[in-house]
Amino acid sequence: MTGPVTLRPATPGDLDLLTTLNLHLREDQGYAGGADEEPWVRERLRGWLTGVGVVGGPVSLAVFERDGEPLAFASWRLDDTGVYGRQLFVSRAHRREGLGRRAIDLLRQAFPGQALSLDVLLTNEPARAFYRALGFTESSVIMSLPALGGEPAQVPVAASH
Ligand SMILES: CC(C)(COP(=O)(O)OP(=O)(O)OC[C@H]1O[C@@H](n2cnc3c(N)ncnc32)[C@H](O)[C@@H]1OP(=O)(O)O)[C@@H](O)C(=O)NCCC(=O)NCCS
Repeated sequence: MTGPVTLRPATPGDLDLLTTLNLHLREDQGYAGGADEEPWVRERLRGWLTGVGVVGGPVSLAVFERDGEPLAFASWRLDDTGVYGRQLFVSRAHRREGLGRRAIDLLRQAFPGQALSLDVLLTNEPARAFYRALGFTESSVIMSLPALGGEPAQVPVAASH
Protein backbone atom coordinates (compact mmCIF):
# COMPACT_ATOMS: atom_id res chain seq x y z
CA MET A 1 0.00 0.00 0.00
CA THR A 2 1.29 3.47 -0.79
CA GLY A 3 -0.12 6.71 0.57
CA PRO A 4 -0.81 10.00 -1.20
CA VAL A 5 1.96 12.21 -2.53
CA THR A 6 2.24 15.46 -0.62
CA LEU A 7 4.22 18.65 -1.20
CA ARG A 8 6.05 20.64 1.43
CA PRO A 9 8.29 23.69 1.09
CA ALA A 10 11.97 22.77 1.27
CA THR A 11 13.95 24.13 4.24
CA PRO A 12 17.67 24.65 4.86
CA GLY A 13 17.54 21.24 6.63
CA ASP A 14 16.98 19.68 3.17
CA LEU A 15 20.32 20.93 1.86
CA ASP A 16 22.08 17.52 1.91
CA LEU A 17 19.10 15.72 0.37
CA LEU A 18 18.63 18.33 -2.36
CA THR A 19 22.34 18.45 -3.14
CA THR A 20 22.36 14.68 -3.73
CA LEU A 21 19.20 14.79 -5.86
CA ASN A 22 20.52 17.79 -7.81
CA LEU A 23 23.73 15.94 -8.65
CA HIS A 24 21.63 13.01 -9.91
CA LEU A 25 19.52 15.44 -11.93
CA ARG A 26 22.60 16.98 -13.53
CA GLU A 27 24.02 13.54 -14.29
CA ASP A 28 20.71 12.44 -15.85
CA GLN A 29 20.75 15.57 -18.03
CA GLY A 30 24.26 14.78 -19.24
CA TYR A 31 26.24 17.52 -17.48
CA ALA A 32 29.85 16.42 -16.98
CA GLY A 33 30.52 16.22 -13.25
CA GLY A 34 33.77 17.92 -12.18
CA ALA A 35 35.54 18.12 -8.85
CA ASP A 36 33.98 21.51 -8.15
CA GLU A 37 30.45 20.47 -9.10
CA GLU A 38 29.25 19.35 -5.66
CA PRO A 39 30.29 22.57 -3.87
CA TRP A 40 28.84 24.68 -6.70
CA VAL A 41 25.50 22.84 -6.58
CA ARG A 42 25.43 23.00 -2.77
CA GLU A 43 26.12 26.75 -2.69
CA ARG A 44 23.52 27.52 -5.34
CA LEU A 45 20.94 25.50 -3.38
CA ARG A 46 21.95 27.15 -0.13
CA GLY A 47 21.25 30.49 -1.77
CA TRP A 48 17.86 29.36 -3.03
CA LEU A 49 16.93 27.92 0.39
CA THR A 50 18.03 30.95 2.39
CA GLY A 51 17.38 33.69 -0.18
CA VAL A 52 20.94 34.96 0.30
CA GLY A 53 23.07 35.81 -2.74
CA VAL A 54 20.52 34.70 -5.35
CA VAL A 55 21.03 36.03 -8.86
CA GLY A 56 17.87 36.84 -10.85
CA GLY A 57 15.16 36.80 -8.17
CA PRO A 58 14.00 34.32 -5.54
CA VAL A 59 13.76 30.62 -6.36
CA SER A 60 11.35 28.39 -4.41
CA LEU A 61 11.85 24.69 -3.75
CA ALA A 62 9.40 21.97 -2.77
CA VAL A 63 9.92 18.36 -1.74
CA PHE A 64 7.36 15.72 -2.69
CA GLU A 65 6.88 12.90 -0.21
CA ARG A 66 5.01 9.65 -0.07
CA ASP A 67 4.68 7.79 3.22
CA GLY A 68 7.09 10.33 4.71
CA GLU A 69 9.80 9.49 2.16
CA PRO A 70 11.17 12.33 -0.02
CA LEU A 71 10.95 11.03 -3.59
CA ALA A 72 11.02 14.12 -5.80
CA PHE A 73 11.67 17.84 -5.78
CA ALA A 74 10.90 20.87 -7.90
CA SER A 75 12.18 24.42 -8.03
CA TRP A 76 10.64 27.43 -9.71
CA ARG A 77 10.42 31.17 -9.75
CA LEU A 78 7.49 33.46 -10.36
CA ASP A 79 7.85 35.87 -13.23
CA ASP A 80 5.62 37.98 -15.43
CA THR A 81 4.55 34.90 -17.41
CA GLY A 82 3.49 32.89 -14.34
CA VAL A 83 5.35 29.98 -12.80
CA TYR A 84 8.68 29.29 -14.47
CA GLY A 85 9.94 25.79 -13.55
CA ARG A 86 13.66 25.54 -12.92
CA GLN A 87 13.96 21.87 -12.02
CA LEU A 88 11.90 18.71 -11.60
CA PHE A 89 13.43 15.48 -10.43
CA VAL A 90 11.98 12.10 -9.42
CA SER A 91 14.23 9.61 -7.62
CA ARG A 92 15.59 7.07 -10.04
CA ALA A 93 14.12 4.12 -8.15
CA HIS A 94 10.61 5.60 -8.36
CA ARG A 95 10.17 6.66 -11.96
CA ARG A 96 7.05 5.76 -13.92
CA GLU A 97 4.98 5.60 -10.75
CA GLY A 98 3.09 8.78 -11.56
CA LEU A 99 5.15 10.94 -9.17
CA GLY A 100 6.23 13.44 -11.82
CA ARG A 101 2.66 13.89 -13.02
CA ARG A 102 1.47 14.32 -9.43
CA ALA A 103 4.24 16.83 -8.71
CA ILE A 104 3.20 18.96 -11.67
CA ASP A 105 -0.47 18.72 -10.61
CA LEU A 106 0.37 19.85 -7.07
CA LEU A 107 2.49 22.72 -8.34
CA ARG A 108 -0.28 23.93 -10.62
CA GLN A 109 -2.84 23.67 -7.83
CA ALA A 110 -0.58 25.82 -5.65
CA PHE A 111 -0.73 28.62 -8.25
CA PRO A 112 -4.21 28.73 -9.75
CA GLY A 113 -4.52 31.23 -12.56
CA GLN A 114 -0.80 31.01 -13.39
CA ALA A 115 0.61 29.37 -16.51
CA LEU A 116 3.47 26.93 -16.00
CA SER A 117 6.42 26.93 -18.36
CA LEU A 118 9.93 25.52 -18.24
CA ASP A 119 13.02 24.80 -20.32
CA VAL A 120 14.01 21.26 -21.28
CA LEU A 121 17.24 20.30 -23.01
CA LEU A 122 16.57 19.22 -26.58
CA THR A 123 18.63 16.10 -25.85
CA ASN A 124 16.48 15.15 -22.84
CA GLU A 125 14.01 13.10 -24.84
CA PRO A 126 12.55 11.21 -21.82
CA ALA A 127 11.67 14.51 -20.13
CA ARG A 128 10.23 15.94 -23.35
CA ALA A 129 8.08 12.81 -23.72
CA PHE A 130 6.98 13.21 -20.10
CA TYR A 131 5.94 16.84 -20.55
CA ARG A 132 4.20 16.12 -23.82
CA ALA A 133 2.28 13.28 -22.11
CA LEU A 134 1.06 15.84 -19.56
CA GLY A 135 -0.18 18.18 -22.29
CA PHE A 136 2.71 20.66 -22.44
CA THR A 137 3.47 22.01 -25.90
CA GLU A 138 6.94 22.96 -27.15
CA SER A 139 7.04 26.63 -27.99
CA SER A 140 10.60 27.96 -28.21
CA VAL A 141 14.26 27.03 -28.59
CA ILE A 142 16.95 28.78 -26.55
CA MET A 143 19.93 29.85 -28.69
CA SER A 144 23.22 30.37 -26.85
CA LEU A 145 26.89 31.17 -27.42
CA PRO A 146 29.71 30.39 -24.99
CA ALA A 147 31.10 33.26 -22.89
CA LEU A 148 34.01 35.32 -24.25
CA GLY A 149 37.20 35.46 -22.23
CA GLY A 150 39.29 38.54 -21.58
CA GLU A 151 38.55 41.98 -20.25
CA PRO A 152 35.25 43.71 -20.99
CA ALA A 153 35.35 46.07 -23.94
CA GLN A 154 34.11 49.56 -23.39
CA VAL A 155 30.34 49.62 -23.64
CA PRO A 156 29.15 52.36 -26.00
CA VAL A 157 26.82 54.75 -24.24
CA ALA A 158 24.56 57.35 -25.73
CA ALA A 159 25.95 60.87 -25.59
CA SER A 160 24.24 62.97 -22.96
CA HIS A 161 22.47 66.11 -24.07
C1 LIG B 1 11.06 13.35 -16.31
C2 LIG B 1 10.66 12.81 -14.92
C3 LIG B 1 10.45 13.98 -13.97
C4 LIG B 1 9.35 12.03 -15.08
O1 LIG B 1 8.91 11.61 -13.79
P1 LIG B 1 8.11 10.24 -13.56
O2 LIG B 1 7.60 10.24 -12.16
O3 LIG B 1 8.92 9.08 -13.98
O4 LIG B 1 6.89 10.41 -14.60
P2 LIG B 1 5.41 9.81 -14.48
O5 LIG B 1 5.48 8.44 -13.89
O6 LIG B 1 4.52 10.79 -13.78
O7 LIG B 1 5.03 9.72 -16.03
C5 LIG B 1 3.83 10.27 -16.59
C6 LIG B 1 3.81 9.95 -18.08
O8 LIG B 1 4.87 10.66 -18.74
C7 LIG B 1 5.41 9.83 -19.79
N1 LIG B 1 6.80 9.47 -19.47
C8 LIG B 1 7.41 9.54 -18.28
N2 LIG B 1 8.70 9.15 -18.37
C9 LIG B 1 8.90 8.82 -19.67
C10 LIG B 1 10.02 8.32 -20.38
N3 LIG B 1 11.20 8.09 -19.77
N4 LIG B 1 9.88 8.07 -21.70
C11 LIG B 1 8.70 8.29 -22.33
N5 LIG B 1 7.58 8.76 -21.70
C12 LIG B 1 7.69 9.02 -20.38
C13 LIG B 1 4.54 8.58 -19.84
O9 LIG B 1 3.46 8.82 -20.72
C14 LIG B 1 4.05 8.49 -18.40
O10 LIG B 1 2.85 7.76 -18.25
P3 LIG B 1 2.91 6.13 -18.15
O11 LIG B 1 4.00 5.79 -17.16
O12 LIG B 1 1.55 5.78 -17.68
O13 LIG B 1 3.26 5.66 -19.53
C15 LIG B 1 11.72 11.82 -14.38
O14 LIG B 1 11.99 10.84 -15.36
C16 LIG B 1 13.03 12.48 -13.98
O15 LIG B 1 13.17 12.94 -12.85
N6 LIG B 1 14.01 12.47 -14.93
C17 LIG B 1 15.36 13.00 -14.65
C18 LIG B 1 15.36 14.49 -14.44
C19 LIG B 1 14.80 15.25 -15.60
O16 LIG B 1 15.13 15.02 -16.75
N7 LIG B 1 13.93 16.21 -15.24
C20 LIG B 1 13.33 17.11 -16.18
C21 LIG B 1 14.27 18.22 -16.44
S1 LIG B 1 13.46 19.59 -17.18
